[in-house]
Amino acid sequence: MDLTTPLILVNLKTYSESMGEKAVKLAKIAEEVTRETGICVALAPQFSDIHRVASASEVPIFAQHVDPVTPGRGTGSILVEAVVEAGAVGTLLNHSERQLGLALIEASLARAKEVELKVCICSNNQAVSGAAAALGPDFIAVEPPELIGTGIPVSKTQPEVVTATVETIQNINPVVIPLCGAGISTGEDVAAALKLGTQGVLLASGVTKAKDPKKILLDMATHAK
Ligand code: G3P
Repeated sequence: MDLTTPLILVNLKTYSESMGEKAVKLAKIAEEVTRETGICVALAPQFSDIHRVASASEVPIFAQHVDPVTPGRGTGSILVEAVVEAGAVGTLLNHSERQLGLALIEASLARAKEVELKVCICSNNQAVSGAAAALGPDFIAVEPPELIGTGIPVSKTQPEVVTATVETIQNINPVVIPLCGAGISTGEDVAAALKLGTQGVLLASGVTKAKDPKKILLDMATHAK
């Protein structure tokens, strides 16, 4: 399935509810929702689940992080070539739970580009979004850290952060696709995010911890149309 916008990118983080076979189950649900609505739902599973999920479904898969290493002596590092071979089409970088310095983000982005891995740089505010935009990733997802995992949606409670980020990205590097995340849990939250000028959302707990993830994803995808 193609990576298209509006994009619903679900980060499976290290939740026990979304690892191993449960990640595969979520991928099948994501696939169904994409088929039924035409809206792209992509997943970012743990590294250890990338191959399993990519083999069992056609949803676009993102890694949660990569390192700027080259093949060879890099014990414990996440190599971009390995992520691609496992079946990923993209990666997150600088997630709030895996923050990096600017030079490391730049080096990892450069390595990702060498293997044509799409990159979504996460940022915590407008200023970091501006710096990230200058580096030229495919996506930037702004996520105020204090809202992550709270169920309080950035698109409704901090719309000014989202609009400022969208404007900054447009001024610095208009080809970068703006996303937002933190607390996004309903279709209305997604609709609000798109109204603010983003082209999608990055979210986690609203889906990974939902009793009925398909119902939530369908609601989100329907509101993204
Ligand atoms: O990567 C997504 C993220 O950090 C937001 O998490 O649980 O607030 O949707 P959540």
